[in-house]
Amino acid sequence: MPKTAERVQQLGSGIFSELDVLRKQKEQEGVKTINLSIGSPDLPPAAHIKKALQAEMDNSNNYGYPLTDGLPAFKEAVAQWYEKRFQVPLNPGTEVLPVMGSQDGLGHLGLAYLNPGDIALVPDPGYPVYTAGVLLAGGVKYPLPLVAENKFLPDLQAIPREIAWAAKLMYLNYPNNPVAAIADLDFFEEAVAFAKEYDLILCHDLAYSELAYDGYRPPSLLEVPGAKDVAIEFHSFSKTFCMAGCRLGFVVGNQEIIEGLATVKSNIDFGVFKPIQKAGIAALTGPDDWVKENAAIYQRRRDILVDGLNALGWQIEKPKASMFVWAPLPYGYTSSMQFSLDLLEKTGVVVVPGVAFGEQGDRYVRMALVVEENLLEEAVARIGRAFASFSSSVAGELP
Ligand SMILES: Cc1ncc(COP(=O)(O)O)c(C=O)c1O
Repeated sequence: MPKTAERVQQLGSGIFSELDVLRKQKEQEGVKTINLSIGSPDLPPAAHIKKALQAEMDNSNNYGYPLTDGLPAFKEAVAQWYEKRFQVPLNPGTEVLPVMGSQDGLGHLGLAYLNPGDIALVPDPGYPVYTAGVLLAGGVKYPLPLVAENKFLPDLQAIPREIAWAAKLMYLNYPNNPVAAIADLDFFEEAVAFAKEYDLILCHDLAYSELAYDGYRPPSLLEVPGAKDVAIEFHSFSKTFCMAGCRLGFVVGNQEIIEGLATVKSNIDFGVFKPIQKAGIAALTGPDDWVKENAAIYQRRRDILVDGLNALGWQIEKPKASMFVWAPLPYGYTSSMQFSLDLLEKTGVVVVPGVAFGEQGDRYVRMALVVEENLLEEAVARIGRAFASFSSSVAGELP
């Protein structure tokens, strides 16, 4: 049997599957695990979305090839939602493209714009599909370290000029997965100016725009005047509308960049199933109170977990957005994998070692707020019991 291509051999280390094997082993030993590893929303979509999907499934006209370009009504609904939510006007005919989950578009963008050996600037730690897309296209990743000292924003001025000139693409993601940091419009302005100066495509991933807390409303990068000259922005129905399994997202912004991506996609897929696009229209145009209620549920979960762990002596910052908590390793640990394994062994709580998202993540673990409040309370209680010495020895001494 021939070996997989070298580009495939470079891909992810499979930490998620490794963790799942260990989690299942624990379950077999009779331990009820609490899984805070995968960021898949546990809440259901609203009734009006499910109803739209059901009705469209009954319509026999919806079973032909949908085509990559997408339904005009879907793109119109996206443009209206962007105008209402961010006051960003979009031409639905040329500046909007549906994707099969934002992962699809993010993963294929490199194929549209990177020749073998071309450089892409990728946050480290970062959501893994940016790196995967770059590597699958034969590109080279230049990591942008996200560190606490810089509020987990990349220091654009620290990028060597020759790298910035050689690079073609830069990925950004705020609110961020995994570090749960946010960015304001000043930073986005700097990023747009940087992309213009160095002739870069700026790709912003806005998957978590609606999961924000304490009244905070994340901005769109396209709010920056002139951003559309260089930027595209991805959005996902997975988190905002709890439709992760439907595989629906969209990309908006620069027409030419979107056309490049559409050309790649039209050669390998036939678009998103029409009933799903129509359920998407129902989500975008329907009542949105429940989206805010969902955010309130995540906010309560955040408070239970972060307040609970901090009461044990841990020092974790409360995120303003996203569905994650980015926790520094307790005193005494230097490897995120080692701490995650210890935590699973001692408590049955599953978290993701930060190194799964890049080298810079190795001093942290990521916890996803995807279980109910009572289970988060239970997780805190178990950690408190298992790390009795941890709580007393680490107070005030976290890295
Ligand atoms: C930052 C970020 N971008 C994109 C995605 C992928 O979302 P989708 O389900 O739309 O492919 C995720 C999923 O967890 C994510 O965290």
